[in-house]
Amino acid sequence: MEALSFQIRRMQEEDIQRVMEIERASSELIWPENSYRFELRENNAERAWVAYESGGLVIGFVMLWLILDEMHVPNFAVLPEFRRQGVGFGLLSNGLAQGWYEGARCSFLEVRSGNRAAIGLYKKLGFEQVSVRKGYYQNNREDALLMNLDQNGYQNFMDKWGMQWKTN
Ligand SMILES: CC(C)(COP(=O)(O)OP(=O)(O)OC[C@H]1O[C@@H](n2cnc3c(N)ncnc32)[C@H](O)[C@@H]1OP(=O)(O)O)[C@@H](O)C(=O)NCCC(=O)NCCS
Repeated sequence: MEALSFQIRRMQEEDIQRVMEIERASSELIWPENSYRFELRENNAERAWVAYESGGLVIGFVMLWLILDEMHVPNFAVLPEFRRQGVGFGLLSNGLAQGWYEGARCSFLEVRSGNRAAIGLYKKLGFEQVSVRKGYYQNNREDALLMNLDQNGYQNFMDKWGMQWKTN
């Protein structure tokens, strides 16, 4: 199979419908349109990125927040037919690297305990599980794992993966 070629840019309001389609194909609890509009128009912490393939079609996105020196990952998905080709890894590693250039030194996220794909990706980037929130997800009472990339882990991430992403 030919390697998928994709690029990454900041999310814009024009992307919201497409991002919601990707989310509907990926997740049981999806954000309403107004939440995306709020993020892009009013939230100074918002650092959202989309990945697009050579024809310009958006195939994945990551919503990040930069709060003090912390990167948070509230929403993240890749269209099912484009998974396992490095898009999710590229999106999150670019976002973390850009955050680092803005002063972030740690990162936190929550993930469903049964989400093997996402947990595998986060571990590859250096995140470690720090605690469990029992029954956290409202729709099925699944546990949430709280994962953390601490300062050492973030530095290691930058040394290993991050430097290829230039300041954007
Ligand atoms: C999680 C998600 C974004 C990963 O996107 P992706 O583009 O398929 O991920 P990548 O191809 O970049 O994979 C990077 C690494 O993640 C891990 N990984 C990805 N999919 C995996 C799977 N199905 N099983 C196990 N590990 C997996 C692997 O370590 C992989 O590295 P490798 O290819 O060298 O083995 C995608 O599966 C998705 O959209 N899932 C539904 C939404 C979701 O769960 N979002 C996260 C909410 S916390």
